[in-house]
Amino acid sequence: MQYFSEEHSSEVVKQQYKNCKDQRLKKIMESAIDHLHAFVKDVEPTQEEWIYMIEYLTKTGQKCDDKRQEFILLSDVLGISALVDTINNRKTLNATESTVLGPFHVKNAPKKSMGENINQDGKGEPAFIFGKVTDTEGNPIKGAEIDVWQANEDGFYDIQQPDVQPEMNLRGVFTTEENGKYWFKSVKPKFYSIPTDGPVGTMIFATGRHPNRPAHLHYIVSAPGYKPVVTHVFVKGSEYLDSDAVFGVKDSLISEYKFVDDIERAKDVGFNTTYYELEFNFVLEKP
Ligand code: BEZ
Ligand code: FE
Repeated sequence: MQYFSEEHSSEVVKQQYKNCKDQRLKKIMESAIDHLHAFVKDVEPTQEEWIYMIEYLTKTGQKCDDKRQEFILLSDVLGISALVDTINNRKTLNATESTVLGPFHVKNAPKKSMGENINQDGKGEPAFIFGKVTDTEGNPIKGAEIDVWQANEDGFYDIQQPDVQPEMNLRGVFTTEENGKYWFKSVKPKFYSIPTDGPVGTMIFATGRHPNRPAHLHYIVSAPGYKPVVTHVFVKGSEYLDSDAVFGVKDSLISEYKFVDDIERAKDVGFNTTYYELEFNFVLEKP
């Protein structure tokens, strides 16, 4: 029997978990205790600092409701969401890499026909986006669902501005046919700030960080019999690619929106002005 001491703190606390029957839970609790005790021993917080941390986490919870999840945002800006995503989506083949989901996906985005424009507020620089979905051997996948969403020209998602943007602005779900191809119209994304009006923003500014994400377009690509991929395409040359506030950038996900100054081609794709063109292909692997 050992009483609590600074030296043996984590061993003593872990003793009380020795009868835990769920081995996974036991491992999680023991590891959490080891790391949390090591953290406290490293930082040696004052009593006031510890209370501040507890109040900080309390405020983080209080900021959450059915539309706002400040704990996920905290996990995002600490790089934990990116790490959990990377660990759970290790790729062995040439499959498309994943990245963080983020808080702005909606489950029931409208189904669209190929070629439709998802931009309903008329703002921004027009963009034509196309590509194909294949398996790891390059065979086209028919019936793949391509769920896309992005922020508008002012850097906000429709659900952040319910009284300003049309409902479901810049969202849509497309389904590939026989040849695995997809194409649709939208706008070239801009960089934007994650929400900073809560405890996460307080921490970001107190520590001299910035809250910005490089310009990107979100995708979830799924097909029966394949592992779905939750990912983004980042705009090549965008500001903040090298310092994404939520650590979502991967080299393979950066792609160029090419400027097209050709009115005939513009007419072919359904624009009457110059536009940008993005090609991005997806490779899905079997589970
Ligand atoms: C996003 O890309 O939508 C996002 C991801 C993480 C935190 C905030 C926003
Ligand atoms: Fe985003």
